[in-house]
Amino acid sequence: MKIDLISIFPEYFAPLKLSLIGKAEQDGLLSIQIHDLRDFTSDGHRTVDDTPYGGGAGMVMKAQPWGDATDPIIENNPQIIVIVPTPSGQVLTQEMAAELSKADHLLFLCGRYEGIDARVMTDLSTRVDLREISIGDYVLAGGEVAALVMIEAITRLIPGVLGNAASLIEESHSLIQDGQSLVEYPNFTKPPLWRGLPVPEVLTSGNHGEIAKWRAAQALARTHKIKQIKPMNGDQ
Ligand code: ADE
Repeated sequence: MKIDLISIFPEYFAPLKLSLIGKAEQDGLLSIQIHDLRDFTSDGHRTVDDTPYGGGAGMVMKAQPWGDATDPIIENNPQIIVIVPTPSGQVLTQEMAAELSKADHLLFLCGRYEGIDARVMTDLSTRVDLREISIGDYVLAGGEVAALVMIEAITRLIPGVLGNAASLIEESHSLIQDGQSLVEYPNFTKPPLWRGLPVPEVLTSGNHGEIAKWRAAQALARTHKIKQIKPMNGDQ
């Protein structure tokens, strides 16, 4: 997968060189390119923002640098998916991450301030698949951290990026029971006793059927707790 990022803070993306994503790039599974929006400004001050039409607080990012920065990337790439991280977008889910992990090419437009002139999105949406995506119902100072979150959620689902593909099957938000997505059961490792806290006995029993049953019950109980849904059987 090819990933392009445009931002006024290219340094924000240093973590992409680390861990799984860094290794995936070294292994040739990913190719990441970071672009500085200010390289596409048209004035000596490298201005990227201006006051909003209609008044109001804050500044809006000017359309021209975004148009000029995106044009060469999307040219000859009609299959590209352009992602604009924004708190006004559709909230990212595991299902969306899985769908995006199948794309060949993603471009992230990381805005700051009060966002990007809306005409940039209108113009792009006539030429490419454009998605405005939020990582949750809260407001960050810019799209960079949100893009990092999305890139991690998406790229770890690309075959070969994660060391152990089996861990994808059982993890949080992938477990499905009766059509419901469940969070993961709790995990334990050695030693068997730590600060007076033992590992649940069933996990050391060697009885795989009982272990599977216990894990399913734990996943269900945790899901009910975080989603504040009443369990149907009334046993929690
Ligand atoms: N930019 C600012 N807040 C954001 C959020 N919650 N999700 C995505 N991008 C953002």
